[in-house]
Amino acid sequence: MPYSLTTVLYIAASILFILSLSGLSQQETARRGNLFGIIGMAIAIVATMLGTGTTGDANLSDSGYMMLLISVLPGVLIGAVMAARVAMTSMPELVAILHSFVGAAAVLVGLASFLDPNANHADVVHNVEVYIGVFIGAITFTGSVIAFLKLRGSIGGKPLMLPARHLLNLAMVGACVYFGYEFLTVHGAEGLTPLLIMTGIACVIGIHMVMAIGGADMPVVVSMLNSYSGWAAAAAGFMLSNDLLIITGALVGSSGAILSYIMCKAMNRSFLSVILGGFGSDGGAPAAKGKKIEGEITEFNVDEAVALLKGSKNIVVVPGYGMAVAQAQHSLSEVTKILRKSGANFRFAIHPVAGRLPGHMNVLLAEANVPYDIVLEMEEINEDFPETDAVFVIGANDIVNPSALDDPASPIAGMPVLEVWKAKTVVVMKRGRGTGYAGVDNPLFYKENTRMLFGDAKKNVDAILGKLRD
Ligand code: TAP
Repeated sequence: MPYSLTTVLYIAASILFILSLSGLSQQETARRGNLFGIIGMAIAIVATMLGTGTTGDANLSDSGYMMLLISVLPGVLIGAVMAARVAMTSMPELVAILHSFVGAAAVLVGLASFLDPNANHADVVHNVEVYIGVFIGAITFTGSVIAFLKLRGSIGGKPLMLPARHLLNLAMVGACVYFGYEFLTVHGAEGLTPLLIMTGIACVIGIHMVMAIGGADMPVVVSMLNSYSGWAAAAAGFMLSNDLLIITGALVGSSGAILSYIMCKAMNRSFLSVILGGFGSDGGAPAAKGKKIEGEITEFNVDEAVALLKGSKNIVVVPGYGMAVAQAQHSLSEVTKILRKSGANFRFAIHPVAGRLPGHMNVLLAEANVPYDIVLEMEEINEDFPETDAVFVIGANDIVNPSALDDPASPIAGMPVLEVWKAKTVVVMKRGRGTGYAGVDNPLFYKENTRMLFGDAKKNVDAILGKLRD
């Protein structure tokens, strides 16, 4: 394929990726955005395979195509099967392990391009690209593997607090800078030793950085590693002189950085304090500190919940991780239809970190065909709670915890939450008195206007649906 045609296809793919990102920013256009992304990626793969070789100067030979097919086909199959099988609740783990592949690829591309017999070791710019690419790639690789293991529960969510850990990080970064100087000043293949030593140190930095981050900050870490994987891909693009990889990497890197910023804001955390680590305990652990909770729990049953729904004009549902676990969204969508038909103002309130991945609740509700216009973000609905007759909190906990606002000693103090307790009546649907992800007790359950409807969310929503249909 002529070089100019490859360039045109690369530009088309880049435009489609930008349109994809803009489409994915809103629910109404998300499907279209996804489609743009798929078409862009298909064009990118075909243009890269049929276009000039990785160095930009030669088409691939027949054996080159064969090698490409042998490595790409199993990857495509494994990826498709994994994506089809993954449960929505395991999505963050899958995303984390996929980031680790990008990091590993950047390291391997860097080492391969340094070991290439035709490499020009006197080219300082290329050497800097290799060094930085391998550095970011190694941190992304090991950091993502640790994030995967933490999210999977294979290692605890408790932050690893080594003594003088900031000094240790600083010393490791300093060593990488020193070996970078060595790498750039020695001649020829001797640069391999400082390059490999730096790779080892960067791997340890990645492990240490994510080990020090507490369970409650894991959402930010996943989006931060997403950003790193983008920069690692961009660095690989520089090494391979592939413009499309540079553009795609920069898009992923910057959108991941923006997402990390949004998540930090949603949890009222500064990006630096997330990186420095130590916030949050193992998910589900009892609260270590915070005010002692007083009051009694008032239980509710399904009949009472149905009567409340029938007698309310303004109803808000707050879905959380428990709704995802129970897969209650389809029955909930049916309840929504019935109550909207009977004239109720029925809406959903979505917290930015509800569930276990960005947009988790939006995806589940869209899958169950809940209309987009009744699904509102926290800022759009928080002021409406005082005029709300009934709030149904379904499998959510941390995101409706009032101690975030009124208990400075609470581990989640300062995190903006949905102020559901301001409504006339709040019904909390969960299985027991267990804490949420941050391991913090919730005074909402003990408030006078709160009613607890215990049990699996799907079973209870099904029971409510059955009675509403009757
Ligand atoms: P959580 O605070 O984790 O609370 C979920 C609640 O659901 C639990 O208290 C649990 O109580 C209940 N539950 C579990 N299975 C259930 C079932 N089958 N039926 C009914 N209830 C069930 O969830 P949230 O309110 O959505 O808050 C999200 C938390 O996860 C935040 O702390 C956030 O920082 C963190 N996080 C978020 C993300 C992203 S990006 N969204 C990623 C990682 C972590 P019972 O055991 O008593 O039933």
